[in-house]
Amino acid sequence: MQSPKPRLFSGMKPTGRIHLGNYFGALKQFVDLQDTHDTFIFVANLHALTGLPSQETLIEDTRNLVLDYLAAGLDPEKVTIFKQSDILAHASLAWVFNNFVSMQYLMRAHAFKDAEAKKSEVNVGTFDYPVLMAADILLYGTDVVPVGKDQKQHVEYARDMAGKFNNQYGEHFKLPKELILEDTGVIPGTDGQKMSKSYGNTIPLSATDEEVKKAVMSIVTDSRERNEVKDPEELVLYQIHKYFNNSPELKAQYAQGLGYGDAKKMLIDDIVTFLRPMRERRAYYENNPKLVQEILIAGAHKANDIAMKKIFDVYEAIGLTE
Ligand code: ADP
Ligand code: TRP
Repeated sequence: MQSPKPRLFSGMKPTGRIHLGNYFGALKQFVDLQDTHDTFIFVANLHALTGLPSQETLIEDTRNLVLDYLAAGLDPEKVTIFKQSDILAHASLAWVFNNFVSMQYLMRAHAFKDAEAKKSEVNVGTFDYPVLMAADILLYGTDVVPVGKDQKQHVEYARDMAGKFNNQYGEHFKLPKELILEDTGVIPGTDGQKMSKSYGNTIPLSATDEEVKKAVMSIVTDSRERNEVKDPEELVLYQIHKYFNNSPELKAQYAQGLGYGDAKKMLIDDIVTFLRPMRERRAYYENNPKLVQEILIAGAHKANDIAMKKIFDVYEAIGLTE
């Protein structure tokens, strides 16, 4: 029987170490909502193929992402955690949806346009990414999809595909809504650009104290001296620091000219303290690989039951099975 709680579905790609930007922009919401929602969180490993990772890299990144989910506080007793590749229906439904969208429509996707701006040749997997993502979401009768701001359009596309299918074949899909924390914003990396795995400017969730220290010491600052009045919101240091301490006192200290060296020391302490419980949970699961495997198997069973029912329902509606 389906839980009376609204169904939440989301996930991330295993494409490198999860960082504080991913945490505050997306993962934290999964954790915060797990009690009030019937929560499904997956590892989007089929989506990671757009970057053609090596076998070792994909295995390693997948393993790490599952550990990050658990370390961040997803409770496997409450949340269905699974790997996308364990559920064959994702690709099957994506194939169906491919026929409901035009190339022109997919060419308007921000992610595609960004990819095209960077590279003259974009692979078909990248082009078709929103279609697979729609399949992910719609297979599970999803009500809400917590994601970072940059993913909003993808959820809109999923809604479009559900609507188009329903128009032609009757009501088979619920229309999902994105859930975006409006005040989260984009967390800058150590160089002041958006913190991103692609820019090498991250502070990973699994960082050691040494790594935290090195990353924080490398955060860009200007040449203004201690005691010079500064607008905290202009400072990359404060834009990161406020996620760990949003007290007016800290803001006032920055405004009154807190020296960058002292601010960095405080930030290192705050991040290390923040990451400590995560590190402990991570170590627990890392030392119990069998348990992690069992979590993924149980998750795959539960997800597969739902996904198989949906894909058969869809196949029947279309006339692929009788
Ligand atoms: P990356 O840019 O590091 O490759 P992804 O594109 O895989 O990150 O993003 C995974 C999720 O984390 C998305 O929902 C995205 O919106 C969110 N996210 C990524 N970086 C940031 C950031 N710097 N600030 C806020 N949210 C972020
Ligand atoms: N595109 C998402 C990201 O880059 C990952 C993702 C794939 C996803 N399928 C999804 C997120 C379905 C939510 C729901 O972060």
